Amino acid sequence: MSNLTKNILCIGAGYVGVPSMAMIAYKCPEYKVTVVDIDSGRINAWNSNILPIYEPGLDKIIQKTRNINLFFSTDVENEIKKNDIIFICVNTPTKNHGIGAGKATDLQYLENVIRQIGKYSNSPKIIVEKSTVPVRTAGFIKKILDTESEYSFTILSNPEFMAEGTAINDLAFPARVLIGSDETESGIAARNELIEIYSAWIPTEKIITTNLWSSELSKLAANAFLAQRISSINSISALCEKTGADITEISHSVGMDERIGGKFLTSGIGFGGSCFKKDISSLIYLCECYGLTEVAAYWEGVLNINEYQQKRFVDKIVKSCNSIAEKKICVLGCAFKTDSDDVRESPAIGIIKQLQEEGAHIVVSDPQALKSLSRQFGETIRYEVDPYEAVKECNLVLLLTDWNIFKNLDYAKIYKSMEKPAYIFDGRNIIDIQRCKEIGFEVYSIGKG
Ligand code: UDX
Ligand code: UDX
Repeated sequence: MSNLTKNILCIGAGYVGVPSMAMIAYKCPEYKVTVVDIDSGRINAWNSNILPIYEPGLDKIIQKTRNINLFFSTDVENEIKKNDIIFICVNTPTKNHGIGAGKATDLQYLENVIRQIGKYSNSPKIIVEKSTVPVRTAGFIKKILDTESEYSFTILSNPEFMAEGTAINDLAFPARVLIGSDETESGIAARNELIEIYSAWIPTEKIITTNLWSSELSKLAANAFLAQRISSINSISALCEKTGADITEISHSVGMDERIGGKFLTSGIGFGGSCFKKDISSLIYLCECYGLTEVAAYWEGVLNINEYQQKRFVDKIVKSCNSIAEKKICVLGCAFKTDSDDVRESPAIGIIKQLQEEGAHIVVSDPQALKSLSRQFGETIRYEVDPYEAVKECNLVLLLTDWNIFKNLDYAKIYKSMEKPAYIFDGRNIIDIQRCKEIGFEVYSIGKG
């Protein structure tokens, strides 16, 4: 271990913390990287052969680094003492109670960790905010540390822009790495330490620096802009259904304008995931707190269209079948996106709940996310790994996640095993509509007249 000359600690062994730290360990063999978490079950899983999250390519990087220069532990106190650079990757969900409930960011986990750092530190430290936080959180962190500890702390903001399902590629070839700091001597020195780490594999021109507040707000803004594109195309999809225009053709032609660009223009049942709704809600709350009512209303519109898109989808199902009470509905895909086992804020959850309220019986198939979904629904729905088993004797099939395997299913075989009339509702625009109609299905897609 003598070649490990530098130490890094990460608090929070989740979807963001572990892939980010595994990449640093992989690209910077001279650093000893430790990830701690209060959840011992999760840490045990990271130390085992069955990793607690599904992220393509992560297992290979962990195999190459674990117990070489990447370590997982629950010993928060000692690891804080031993490390001088501490990344914060704990969850920062939406507050569900009290002032700002449903909008404001719940900073209690972050605050707990900051207090632990203050309490256990025995030397000056660099604190790197990686968790997404409201703008000006670094000031709040500094204030707590100043009251908790006699040592000096330098705060950096280094938000993570990777997306689940493509995390490894996003971390290896990021569009940019953003580091926010104070322009003080200690701020610049800390920033340079972080630049040194990322320079091991990221071209210098992609590592950008800003003040702390720009960095914190950039993350909220980037997620808001991405989500806004999805709501923009989804709003047009509703108009397509009224007019005979086709949303796929519109995405294609609109996206060919280089000023607009073709990415993130896929219409569907709306965005899910742990970030978009939470971060736009946080942005809205910030605007309200600063008295910017019109700006808050503007971003509220992005969330409203997202809910509207899911409601429209369920309305269509119920109206097409007159009633779905006692009908068997097969949901293909419950992860919030392809290549993920994550169901946080997945559109599938709200849709399944609404269908249950209508009295339908639900069976779900998903290649990775059934375990996560079962924590939400328990025995109120049925789970089948094999999609062909899941569809048997169902009246309706709903495609709710854009997994590749669902694009290539044998829909003639599926049709045969279903009750007739057999309906397909494609919430992700992934099936060949013409072919499914020829087979005999009643087909509904998003944004097709
Ligand atoms: C991340 C970011 O941290 C969040 O701000 C961003 O907006 C979305 O992505 P994520 O990695 O997805 O969150 O969260 P999660 O998978 O829940 O992991 C957080 C981990 O922190 C959990 O394992 C939790 O046990 C741990 N934690 C929480 C601690 O170790 N200590 C605490 O005090 C609180
Ligand atoms: C997002 C951001 O992309 C990432 O930069 C940030 O760090 C975290 O939040 P993530 O939520 O993991 O990442 O996945 P993303 O690929 O952005 O997808 C979010 C949701 O939007 C998914 O439900 C996806 O299905 C949906 N989506 C995406 C669409 O409906 N249409 C699109 O064109 C793209």
